[in-house]
Amino acid sequence: MKKNINVAVLVSGGGTNLQAIIDFSAEGKLESGKIVKVISSKADVFALTRAKDAEIPTAVVERKGKTQEEFENGILEQLESCKAEVIVLAGFMSILSKNFTDKYKDRIINVHPALIPSFCGEGYYGLKVHEAALAYGVKVTGATVHYVNEIADGGEIIMQKAVKVKEKDTPETLQKRVMQEAEWKILPASLELVCKKLLKEI
Ligand code: GAR
Repeated sequence: MKKNINVAVLVSGGGTNLQAIIDFSAEGKLESGKIVKVISSKADVFALTRAKDAEIPTAVVERKGKTQEEFENGILEQLESCKAEVIVLAGFMSILSKNFTDKYKDRIINVHPALIPSFCGEGYYGLKVHEAALAYGVKVTGATVHYVNEIADGGEIIMQKAVKVKEKDTPETLQKRVMQEAEWKILPASLELVCKKLLKEI
């Protein structure tokens, strides 16, 4: 019987969510999955250093200067070469087309730094999400892990965790707390859940 689901992680930046998955795996908690590759849409990002330090193979498929189709074909090539079965978008800042998401239906998960359906969809990424939450004046925000389909942040929700907004929060302090209290917890836990479910189906 198959023991592990091959997991590829797509990144574009600092990679703290990738680190949370690496640590979770090192602690023996990613029982149903194995990280087989980290693919970055940008060269020279710290996420690649984190992957190398953890001895995970890496690849760079730059978004810049390519059509959507060329970009996605580049990623698909990398995913096929490592036989990826589940894909994690961990701070991956490009939108994927229906053509791509249909190929991995219920096998792509994303972490979003807000409680979907608030502050999500096109244009809501990274710090912008927290700026919008503070501008609106919400008292509670959080993070969501969801399946990825062709609608930006529109796929089925897997896990959510709420985080209180403090009066003196800036977008930066709020981002940090949402990461620490929510994202770094629910992303690895959701990944294990999804891999475990897939293993049962195989
Ligand atoms: C995280 O907060 C993640 O939720 C967000 O970008 C940050 C990446 O940080 N992703 C999005 O906004 C996607 N819509 P990281 O590179 O340190 O994991």
